[in-house]
Formats: sequence, structure tokens, C-alpha cells
Amino acid sequence: MQEISNEIIISGKSIGFVPTMGFLHEGHLSLVKASKSENDITIVSIFVNPTQFGPNEDLSKYPRDFNRDESLLSENGVDYIFYPNVDEIYPNGFQTYVVQEKISSLLEGAIRPVHFRGVTTIVSILFNIVKPRRAYFGQKDAQQCAVLKRMVTDLCFDLEMHICPIVREPDGLAMSSRNVYLSLQERMDALVLSRSLNTAAGIIKSGERDCAKIKSEAMSILTQVPSASPDYFEIVDFDTFETVTTLNSKKSYFLLTACKIGKTRLIDNQLIHL
Ligand code: PAJ
Repeated sequence: MQEISNEIIISGKSIGFVPTMGFLHEGHLSLVKASKSENDITIVSIFVNPTQFGPNEDLSKYPRDFNRDESLLSENGVDYIFYPNVDEIYPNGFQTYVVQEKISSLLEGAIRPVHFRGVTTIVSILFNIVKPRRAYFGQKDAQQCAVLKRMVTDLCFDLEMHICPIVREPDGLAMSSRNVYLSLQERMDALVLSRSLNTAAGIIKSGERDCAKIKSEAMSILTQVPSASPDYFEIVDFDTFETVTTLNSKKSYFLLTACKIGKTRLIDNQLIHL
């Protein structure tokens, strides 16, 4: 992969890169489309990264279907798929990690302590192998984007970060590889995440600025569904990801929620510009 990337770069062409863990859906493909429209060559990686899963998380049952992913990517005109083995990325003796300190410790990071260390490490490794000019990520994982943008700035990675909007099912559920875990009933219950975000956004639009009130309304929606057990509903500053107590005009915020539906943990968010 490094040799191929070197040749592309020497020939003066730009590389757009979309890192994924596979089991692709329209959300991933929207990143591919963005990359294709802005670069000469588009490279997609498929790697279920073990270091970003905690010991009791779903690494072993994470959905995988390389053949399906491969045909979707070739239908969408992707130039190269980078599909390494775990041993190639983490050979015996591997002992170097990249840790982003502050944003990584909040919210998802507080609940999943090793998660962002795994993400920043694998994305650094992939950037060093693929050497993209532009890299594409989804706002679906808003905190991941904030962590990685900070990492790219702090460590002077010589590339542009492009964040693309959340792709949703027609009924509002944010697309996710993990949605396949949901039973029919849970699939309906899962709409409670986007419903809680829309309700909070509506309250804000009608003038509410007190975050405690907004969060308690949203939480009461999440807890109405018996299969739902929310981890959090938070309102954070767009840049720092720190929680806020009162909204100020002319600023941007993320409304963020993480909620288990049965055994499946889902996340969703909405960007608010005041
Ligand atoms: P994965 O969950 O496969 O997601 C790959 C990329 O697709 C991420 O940037 C994610 O935000 C984006 N994405 C997922 N669902 C989306 C949706 N509904 N709309 C728009 N974009 C969406 O995120 C990861 O993999 C990993 O952490 C990775 C960055 C590859 C590192 O291992």
C-alpha cells in the first residue's frame, strides 16, 4: 500500500482516504462519493480495529462481509481497498500508541476508556501507510471527529480533514453497521434517539437556553421506551466538546446521545447553530 501511494503521489495525483471497519452502508458510501468528487484516487480501508474495542465489547461479533463490501466499493468507483490482517497492523512487539488527552476522556471516552486511544492509534497508522491529501469522516461519530481533528492539528499530519453529514434511514435512524443487531421491535424503538434529539432541537428553537431543562426533556423521551437505557444526553461546545450549562447566541453546539436499545449500544447527534 505504501508503494502504491508513493507512486500515486509522485505522479502528481491526490489521494482521498476513507477509513472504515467494513459492513458498509450508505453512510460510508457518502464519504466515498465526497472523496471521489475532490480527489484523483480514492482509497478505502476495511479493518475491524481490535484496539478500539473494550474487553467486554462486540469485537468478535462485529458484522463482517468482505465480498459484499468489495462489490459495493467497486460499483462506487473506489480505486483501492486496503484490507490488512490484524498481524500486519499490530505485529508481535507492537508497543506504540497515540493518545489524545482531553476530548478523548469525555462522554464516549468516559464510558469506553480504551476506545479513542485505539482510534487515534489506528488512524495514525493508516495515515502513515495511505498518505492521503484528504481524509473523510462522518459526523455520525462527532466526538471521534473532534478527537481526530485535534490529533491532526497537534501532530501536524499533512492532510485535510473533511467531515460529512449524518446519513439516515428514511424514518430518521442514523445508519450504523451495528443496526443489524436490532430485532424488529428494537429497530422501531431505536427511533427514540433521533426523536430525543429533534425534541431538544425544537425546544432550543423555541427559545430555551437552560441546558438542564433541555436535557431533562430529552431524557424523559429516552426513558419512555422500555427497551431503551440511555448512557447520556449531553450538550457540548462544538470545538472543545466540553458540556455547557447555558446556550449563547452565535455559537455552535452538539446535542449528543448514547443509548442502549436492548443489548445494542447506539449513538446519535445533531449540530445546532444559534
Ligand atoms: P466505521 O464505524 O466503519 O465508520 C467509518 C466512517 O463512516 C466513520 O468516519 C463514520 O463516522 C462514518 N459513518 C458511519 N455511519 C455514518 C452515517 N450514518 N453517516 C455518515 N457517516 C457515517 O468509525 C470507524 O469505523 C472507526 O472508528 C475508524 C475511523 C475506521 C477507525 O477504526
